[in-house]
Amino acid sequence: MNNLNSVGTQCLITNQNRNYTEAILIVKATPFVKWAGGKRQLLSELDYSLPKTFNNYFEPFVGGGALFFHLKSKRIVNKAILNDYNPDLVGVYKIVKNDVNALIKELASLKYKNNEETFYQIRKEQPSQPVKKAAQFLYLNKTAFNGLYRVNSKGKFNVPFGKYKNPKILDEKNLLAVSKALQIGEITCLDFEQAIEKAKKEDFVYFDPPYQPISKTSNFTSYTTKDFTEKDQERLSQCFKKLDKKGCFVMLSNSYVPLIKELYKEFNQKIVMAGRTINCNGNGRGKIKELLITNY
Ligand SMILES: C[S@@+](CC[C@H](N)C(=O)[O-])C[C@H]1O[C@@H](n2cnc3c(N)ncnc32)[C@H](O)[C@@H]1O
Repeated sequence: MNNLNSVGTQCLITNQNRNYTEAILIVKATPFVKWAGGKRQLLSELDYSLPKTFNNYFEPFVGGGALFFHLKSKRIVNKAILNDYNPDLVGVYKIVKNDVNALIKELASLKYKNNEETFYQIRKEQPSQPVKKAAQFLYLNKTAFNGLYRVNSKGKFNVPFGKYKNPKILDEKNLLAVSKALQIGEITCLDFEQAIEKAKKEDFVYFDPPYQPISKTSNFTSYTTKDFTEKDQERLSQCFKKLDKKGCFVMLSNSYVPLIKELYKEFNQKIVMAGRTINCNGNGRGKIKELLITNY
């Protein structure tokens, strides 16, 4: 019998059928991008609220994929449909899944280039080759201010240099672990409504959309060139209800605001306290109330 014990980002496997302890260290895949709204600090809350069993896993707003990697490390997911509307991010997922060694090689050539001048030079480049594009994305993700992803109306990344002392531009072990984890994933770049079309009874769908702003000054919704509006929140609640009728297990995170409470009033609503790490002006750190909604 194998026992799995978490040790930081690694797993210690102990073989109890022997007289001695055989320890193999395996790197657990964790999010490989810094992503606004990432769910790493809420994982224990999410874990507590998971359905007991399910078939396929759908994550239509995958971002950094914190819950996917968590489920994968617990070995409770066999097939995952991972989706995001940000084409650059999805491009990187595909490269990590299918061409991780080429990506590592490319990043190795960028790993000592954490200075302002090179940052702006790399930010300006427009590589057409997918591996180079993915390396540029990861380089900027680790070195830009607050790990933010923000584009202007033309889709051009415009976050300034982050001035970090020692950013992990290349994390080879994690990239290899992520690539392995992604082998059970189908990765798409669609609007969330299309991304859940194939969900069937007893599949599990976790929605983690851009949050409904809690105030007029806190509206960080620009992960893509299109903002996520109130209409999108309403459209999302219709999807939630459709999946509920199909017999799927559905869980959704969002902000604790009247609109969201009202849209999901017939479902279970739990208040969770989340530490805010990234917002648009960088000074909104601290615990805030969020909603975790389930239909089971
Ligand atoms: C709150 S983030 C998800 C964070 C993720 N759960 C994590 O742990 O990092 C929301 C994501 O939704 C994506 N998104 C925005 N509009 C979308 C749409 N219409 N359909 C699908 N994804 C969308 C954004 O690109 C962003 O990555």
